[in-house]
Amino acid sequence: MEAGLYAASLTERVVEENPRAVLGLATGSTAVPFYRALVGLGQCGLDLSSVVTINLDEYIGLPPSHVQSYHCFMNDHLFSHIHISPENIYIPNGTVEDLERECNRYDEIIRENPIDFQILGIGVNGHIGFNEPDDLLVSRTHVVDLSPETICSNSRFFNTIDEVPRRAITMGVQAILQAKKIVLMAFGKEKEDIIGKAVHGVVRTDMPASILQLHRDVTFVLDRESAAGL
Ligand code: GLP
Repeated sequence: MEAGLYAASLTERVVEENPRAVLGLATGSTAVPFYRALVGLGQCGLDLSSVVTINLDEYIGLPPSHVQSYHCFMNDHLFSHIHISPENIYIPNGTVEDLERECNRYDEIIRENPIDFQILGIGVNGHIGFNEPDDLLVSRTHVVDLSPETICSNSRFFNTIDEVPRRAITMGVQAILQAKKIVLMAFGKEKEDIIGKAVHGVVRTDMPASILQLHRDVTFVLDRESAAGL
């Protein structure tokens, strides 16, 4: 898909300028063409071996070996195809007992590795990472109860809706907004309404993606359907 290639070419520019760039990475079906294109660029000479990657989120309770864990998603779609050293890969661990400690550990990682380039998808309810619509937005990495809408939407990847984890660890909005450059991708008719609100609506905590209006370098990579309302 051309949009995936376009987003990957924006990443390429960042990595060519700084081979040790810190890439904030997202999961979800929207990100698949992006990773496919990035792997393609890697095969054509783009050296991704020294980048540092920091993923947005992970389900609580799914071990990295679980096929629906974001660890597994990232291995399948990116890490197994590029020569990246495992110690440069960061994804929250949703299987630890002390989740608060894990959130603090993750914030420390982000502090030590400021994000140069953040890829985002968007949930049908406007979430970014797993920052769900709410009365408040949390700035730091935190544990979140997934909304019924998100559970329902993500159930398409599981055998039954009961298998969808109810909680996740997500990077907070502060880390996202501190990324130097943000690229949000959205495709399809079901994202049209939410993209309109995120881009042109007021900034509201019940529309988390609208907070991106406060960032000075955000690119929306959309297809015709998701952009139809703009
Ligand atoms: C999950 C992820 C989000 C992602 C969203 C969209 O909920 N936590 O980071 O943006 O899915 O998924 P999709 O691209 O499959 O619509």
